[in-house]
Amino acid sequence: MTPTPTDQPNVTALLREYALPSPLGFGQELAPIMYRADYMSGTWQAGQLIPFGEVNINPAATCVQFGQQCFEGMKAYKAAHKQPTLFRPEANFARFSRSATRLSMPPPTKEIFAEALSQLVTAFARFIPEDSGQSLYLRPTLLGLDNTFAVKSSERFCFLLLASPSDAYYGDPIKVMIERTHSRAAKGGTGSEKVGGNYAGSLLATGRCIKAGFDQPLWLDAATHSEIEELSGMNFMAVIDDELHTPALSGTILPGVTRDSIIRIAKSMSIRVVERTMPVAGLLTDIINGRCTELFACGTAAIICPISEIGDADGAKMALPDTGKVASKLRATLLNIQEGRADDPYGWSVAAEDTDRLCSRLG
Ligand code: COI
Repeated sequence: MTPTPTDQPNVTALLREYALPSPLGFGQELAPIMYRADYMSGTWQAGQLIPFGEVNINPAATCVQFGQQCFEGMKAYKAAHKQPTLFRPEANFARFSRSATRLSMPPPTKEIFAEALSQLVTAFARFIPEDSGQSLYLRPTLLGLDNTFAVKSSERFCFLLLASPSDAYYGDPIKVMIERTHSRAAKGGTGSEKVGGNYAGSLLATGRCIKAGFDQPLWLDAATHSEIEELSGMNFMAVIDDELHTPALSGTILPGVTRDSIIRIAKSMSIRVVERTMPVAGLLTDIINGRCTELFACGTAAIICPISEIGDADGAKMALPDTGKVASKLRATLLNIQEGRADDPYGWSVAAEDTDRLCSRLG
């Protein structure tokens, strides 16, 4: 499979006229091209790069009515790499496939997923921003297209790959507020898959916490409302007694690719990693008694973002004494690998332009 990214005159023309805006922000600027493949009559059809634009969707489609959709967040880097490079794409493909299957959708084949990434990233290569923390943020998206008011799965689906040249999600340390009322996910639900409904259910609490002067809700488990799970779009980590503590994957937490990468990097730095049940009461005690010195959020979009303050529904607030000693070391090591300034001992980076190699990485 040889990528032919710019063989469509309209795609070529759009890229010829394109210029990166400044500043970028996160997810605000959308690449002028996208990739689309369709599933019909029980099989995936060949996909192609097309101009970015609105997609014609029947308002009675299952993606609109029932949230039959899932997505991924992943990144391509150029920075010190000689060529555009993807970070752990096989992890995103595996999670995307799991999310699709959970919502009764056929995941795109690895050939289509690889071709989409390879074609789009190669075509857009000269616009991938290169400052540290910047990247081409990629959004593989899968939508159920059939119109039906009855609760049943679509038989037609659309796979899109969208892209956004972006900065990190947050530029500064964030403040989080413990969410005591709503739940993000319950056992047996879709909390460990990346489906839109998880995010839709978080929006009201997010709005509430922004109004109260915070950035993100900190979600607790649905059954007891006492154990920390994650933030709305990021995993959660704490430095306690110089160890890295994070909620264990319980089936209701998104298994973040960045979370996993940080755990492996921390272990390589001889930082003890503790994945465990994390009662919020215990964490607050550890902040008061000084054992917990740092909190941070991590995710593809956020990279690693220190948390400077944690608040509660009753108005109580606690500032963290150290907003980044361990976090900044982990962030620098992760970014050095992602951006090609350091050796990649894990083999996480893969060149985007070699579609066949990329495809074989996907499984
Ligand atoms: C990501 O980190 O890629 C996410 O998808 C989280 C959020 C921006 C939705």
